[in-house]
Amino acid sequence: MEDINLLENEIMAQIESASDLKHLDDVRVAVLGKKGVLTEKMKTLGQMDPELRIETAKKLNILKNKIEEAFGAKKNALEEAALNARLEEEKIDVTLPVRPEVQGRIHPVSKIFEEVFAIFGALGFEVAEGPDIEDQFHNFNALNMPLNHPARQMQDTFYIAGKQGEPFDMENAYVARTHTSGIQIRTMENKKPPIRIIAPGRTYRSDMDATHTPMFHQVEGLVVDKTTTFAELKGCLTDFVKAFFELDNIPVRYRPSYFPFTEPSAEMDIGCLKTKTELKIGEGDDWLEILGCGMVHPNVLRAGGIDPDEYQGFAFGVGIDRLAMLKYGIPDLRTFFESDLRWLKHYGFAPLDFSSLTGGLNGNGGSLR
Ligand code: PHE
Repeated sequence: MEDINLLENEIMAQIESASDLKHLDDVRVAVLGKKGVLTEKMKTLGQMDPELRIETAKKLNILKNKIEEAFGAKKNALEEAALNARLEEEKIDVTLPVRPEVQGRIHPVSKIFEEVFAIFGALGFEVAEGPDIEDQFHNFNALNMPLNHPARQMQDTFYIAGKQGEPFDMENAYVARTHTSGIQIRTMENKKPPIRIIAPGRTYRSDMDATHTPMFHQVEGLVVDKTTTFAELKGCLTDFVKAFFELDNIPVRYRPSYFPFTEPSAEMDIGCLKTKTELKIGEGDDWLEILGCGMVHPNVLRAGGIDPDEYQGFAFGVGIDRLAMLKYGIPDLRTFFESDLRWLKHYGFAPLDFSSLTGGLNGNGGSLR
């Protein structure tokens, strides 16, 4: 039986030392092939005494299993090594050094969105979304603006025509959403309080001059909980403008206003200095309106399936393009959407200037501006 142990050691050593698949296969043939050492050994069983034969056959079978297992394991290991070597060899470096002259730019609107996300993200808000083409329930009715409500006329709505050939049904037509406030309703329909979301998006109104374009951008905010108060709204939005304009002491005031979907409603102004040639935020005696806000109207909570006797909330809507004009001193809104590369090169941002509250809203300082 000694020689079976010896044989095992020898075969195992051969398997172990096989350096590639071809070599391993040669070893396999030499051991298990028709004329292999193990096969030859099996052939000697026939001439043995029955007792010895049974015992030897058992041992040889165990050895055969062990060897086959070892071959399998070694084969896997060699195959993996071969694959790794191939992957290493075929690796292509697809990176190119940065060439500033062809580097793209981030549009100021995208940049402001990022900044707003960074700030409200740090304040614990999640991002929600809704469709650009909205039904009138979400854009108007559920926001306490029933049919014939005068506020509908205030918004210069674009109505979407029905199927070709069908008479236009203004009452049931879809609209290009006039604000992001419909996402308040969509969120309440899908989520139970506590709610704490912001909703960015494109919005549309039929209007065009230096500070208005038919498509513009808003961010909506909605907070609903059992104890949400106007004081919280003020704290939250004051923190926002401080972080956004990167000024510790920015004067703010909340002026009474009217929106059908909030009660009471307010507009938030920030202090600034206006001269003939410049606008300085945070100094002087002038005021600049920057957003609309208020406590969510009970009818709106109800339309969203939330009991106004149990819950209350606040909401706000900020014009993103206006923030971009103010923060980055861009005089004409229409130029935002002309796709003029010279404009983008001048006002755009380097792609890697991420906005964060800790790293700075302007990343490495808007170095390529
Ligand atoms: N939807 C309003 C607008 O477009 C803004 C707003 C949102 C006001 C939420 C109050 C609350 O002007």
